[in-house]
Amino acid sequence: MNYRRLGRSGLKVSELSLGSWITYGSQLDAAAAREIMAAAFDRGVNFFDNAEVYARGASEEIMGQALRQLGWPRLRYVVSTKFYWGITDGPNEKNTLNRKYLLNGIDGSLRRLGLDHVDIVFCHRPDPHTPIEETVWAMHDMIHRGKALYWGTSEWGAAEIRAAWEAAERHHLHKPVTEQPEYNLFHRSRVEREYAPLYEGIGIGLTTWSPLASGLLTGKYRDGVPPGSRGAMPRMQFMVGELTDRARNEAVARLAAIASELGCTTAQLALAWCLRNPRVSTVITGASRVAQVQENLAAAEITPRLTAQVLARIEAATAGLAE
Ligand SMILES: NC(=O)c1ccc[n+]([C@@H]2O[C@H](COP(=O)([O-])OP(=O)(O)OC[C@H]3O[C@@H](n4cnc5c(N)ncnc54)[C@H](OP(=O)(O)O)[C@@H]3O)[C@@H](O)[C@H]2O)c1
Repeated sequence: MNYRRLGRSGLKVSELSLGSWITYGSQLDAAAAREIMAAAFDRGVNFFDNAEVYARGASEEIMGQALRQLGWPRLRYVVSTKFYWGITDGPNEKNTLNRKYLLNGIDGSLRRLGLDHVDIVFCHRPDPHTPIEETVWAMHDMIHRGKALYWGTSEWGAAEIRAAWEAAERHHLHKPVTEQPEYNLFHRSRVEREYAPLYEGIGIGLTTWSPLASGLLTGKYRDGVPPGSRGAMPRMQFMVGELTDRARNEAVARLAAIASELGCTTAQLALAWCLRNPRVSTVITGASRVAQVQENLAAAEITPRLTAQVLARIEAATAGLAE
């Protein structure tokens, strides 16, 4: 496993990491979640991504229970959580990044995780109804109080990230060190274009999500929705159109041919493609079973095989289909 700096911060994260969205609390019970985390950790993963809203707090509880049972030294792993949507109703309890919600929310997450601090805390979406300075001060205070070590944003616009960074600079506060955007072969423009000035300018790192486009890039949806997959879950029905999109699945078939020539799976090719971008600090993977972890974490070995010629073929295979 290679470790990359989280942007300009000193924190090192495994270039492939593991998240708990959809899986923990919905597909996986505590024992299965623990088994998957153990399989990842044994292969060098040190970053585990979570959020308050995942399974309405249950994902944090399951990860906390797993961490207690696994007993890893605290210095060996990096845990994140995220705030914005909230898990209870009320004017200051959801869809906000105000000071009251954020400083209350972190205490709930720490309780559920059974930790005295998280390593990275993300503002899960931007909040146009709270002044940026209020949010930046709250994130700074969270760190100052020892409840988090670093903070970042998720799916913020480049101008919003820069405004947060500049507010922190102006007031000598802890700055955001990372953004968490979607990034995969079909979803690239934000990472490759919109954020481009931020990397050198303010040194932002990237913890990228849905590298397999929820499984589409494994090829498992080429003949429809297989039983037991994310697309077969009743609450994920909103995704089925995208997962079974004909043009994209034809592109996946073209990618499968390239993967087979390189001696890897389509999933590994898609993950290796994310890893070849040096702006990416870590690619957050998701897995509903240990075999997926084993397959996915081997993707780093494929990255060196992505020569200019192979990358050109990948571009041609997905031409016109990437956002
Ligand atoms: N910040 C944000 O707004 C945000 C949003 C979404 C996700 N995230 C983070 O990013 C993490 C990863 O996102 P994601 O789960 O969408 O990632 P993904 O890699 O696009 O999809 C993961 C899912 O694909 C299937 N899969 C994975 N490997 C496979 C393989 N080798 N063969 C066949 N199927 C495979 C599994 O689902 P099935 O087996 O059930 O089909 C797995 O749960 C999340 O856990 C979360 O931590 C953040």
